[in-house]
Amino acid sequence: MKSIIVYYSLEGNCKLIAEAVAQEIGAETLELKPKKDIPTSGPLKYLLGGRSAIRKEQPELTNTDLGIVNNYDLIIVGTPVWAATFAPAIRSFSDAVHLQDKKMAFFACSGGGPTTKCIEHMKTVFNGNSFLSDISFTNPLKNPMDCTNKAKAWAKSLL
Ligand SMILES: Cc1cc2nc3c(=O)[nH]c(=O)nc-3n(C[C@H](O)[C@H](O)[C@H](O)COP(=O)(O)O)c2cc1C
Repeated sequence: MKSIIVYYSLEGNCKLIAEAVAQEIGAETLELKPKKDIPTSGPLKYLLGGRSAIRKEQPELTNTDLGIVNNYDLIIVGTPVWAATFAPAIRSFSDAVHLQDKKMAFFACSGGGPTTKCIEHMKTVFNGNSFLSDISFTNPLKNPMDCTNKAKAWAKSLL
C-alpha cells in the first residue's frame, strides 16, 4: 500500500513520530509549513496558537505540492494538540486537497491532556474517507525510544 505521512510540528514531537512511522513502513513524509508560524517560545506561543486553533484559522502554507497526496492509498495525518483540537495547518491541508474515499489514520501528540476531541475533530474535517486507526503520544521528545517503538508497532498494524 502506497503511504504518505502528512504532518505539522511546531517543536519536533510530531516530526519524530512521522519519521519513525515513515521509516518503519517505507512511507513518504510531507511536512506542512505555514508561511507565518507562531513563535516556538514565550507566552505568545500559547495565546496565538490556541486562538488560531479555536478560530478555525487556515494559515497559508509554503507547500506547493499538496496535491501529490492523491497518488497515495493510505494517508496518515499527524498533529500536535492545540487548545484540545488539531493544529490550524491541518485545516489548511484539508481544505486544499478535499480528500475522499482514502484510507486514513491519525496520530496526535499532546502535552499530557486528552487527545479525544482532537481526533474526533480530525474525523469530521476528513469526512468521506475511511479511518483505520488512531494513536496518541505525550510529548514524545521527552521519551523518544518508547514513543518511536510504539509508533513503529502501530505503523505496521496499518498495513
Ligand atoms: C498553541 C499550543 C496549544 C497547546 N494546547 C495543548 C492542549 O490543549 N492540550 C495538551 O495536552 N497540550 C497542548 N499543547 C502542547 C502540545 O500539544 C505538545 O507539546 C505537542 O507534543 C507538541 O507537538 P510538536 O512538537 O510536534 O509541535 C499545546 C501547545 C501549543 C504550542
